[in-house]
Amino acid sequence: MSTSKPTAGAAQRTFTKAELAQFDNSDESKPVYLAIKGIVFDVSSNRSMYPHGSGYGVFAGKDASRALAKSSLDKEHCVPQWKDLPADELKVLNDWFAFYEKKYPIVGRVADGSSELAE
Ligand code: HEM
Repeated sequence: MSTSKPTAGAAQRTFTKAELAQFDNSDESKPVYLAIKGIVFDVSSNRSMYPHGSGYGVFAGKDASRALAKSSLDKEHCVPQWKDLPADELKVLNDWFAFYEKKYPIVGRVADGSSELAE
């Protein structure tokens, strides 16, 4: 018998970048995921806020930590690299992390290919 909560136990799947990209809201039959600092959140409960390829949809199916830190929707900022950012942007990023953690279930983490993804 497990005492784990659903978000803490079964949730720990590791996603490659390509696997995470499957959940970019291009297919209505799949959940919508995004990652912040390597942690993958299920934002399906709010999927209309993440239309495929536009608006906040640029964050779907990827780790876009850098864009969140910079308050940017530019696709070139939608990359995980955040460790070089200034303190004010790191604060913005951590505030977003806390926001998502409160609002959405965690489903896993991104496979660490770059050492930029999680601490
Ligand atoms: C004119 C500019 C903007 C307006 C009027 C705006 C407005 C909003 C509103 C009304 C919400 C919903 C808040 C809530 O549910 O409590 C929201 C959420 C959000 N906004 Fe913006 N926003 C703007 C720009 C940006 C930019 C530049 C970014 C880039 C990082 C951004 C990222 C987000 C994110 C990540 C959410 C949370 C989505 C979620 O709940 O899943 N916003 N915004």
